[in-house]
Amino acid sequence: MLQPNDYPLSVQFDLAAGTFAPITSKSERRLSEMMQSFYDVDAARAIVEQGDRVLYEVLYSPFETSKSDMAMCVTRIFPGKVGDEYHMTKGHLHERDDQPEIYFCLQGEGYLLLQTLDGEFRAEHWTKGTLSHIPPMWMHRTVNMGADTLVFVSVYNLSAGHDYEVVEAKGFKMLVVEREGQAVLVESEK
Ligand SMILES: [Fe+2]
Repeated sequence: MLQPNDYPLSVQFDLAAGTFAPITSKSERRLSEMMQSFYDVDAARAIVEQGDRVLYEVLYSPFETSKSDMAMCVTRIFPGKVGDEYHMTKGHLHERDDQPEIYFCLQGEGYLLLQTLDGEFRAEHWTKGTLSHIPPMWMHRTVNMGADTLVFVSVYNLSAGHDYEVVEAKGFKMLVVEREGQAVLVESEK
């Protein structure tokens, strides 16, 4: 017998605004929560001392039924840099080793950075309309290198789990920084 949450559910996107409704929850990630993520720690500290900064926000809608646990988020990364490194997400690895994810770029320009625990690295260039499949066991982080808010949809299983510590400990091989007015990938010295 169907339970109340086993019925179909739709949300409506406002593509121009980069939002959807209804939203179950909304959270913000501030620079003060990512002090270990940016290579220029002094630049990050100086910004936080001036009053911190929201780097991105996450709008969340779960689609949980009695037999499944799919969820959707819209992440909105605001434009800007910390030192010369572009705003980005904290990045994570799924705790379960059999859990992929779909990302779909709705607005803006950026990079999806991916890396395995063995050090294989990929940078997927994103423009409006790029859809990327993230296979299991690839750490993933998104970087906004454009002048506008980068907006992307993610679809995943809640049971995948989020391991942020492994990204903080290992970091990504490459950073996205501005050099002579251009966004470029450079090797991390971490
Ligand atoms: Fe993920």
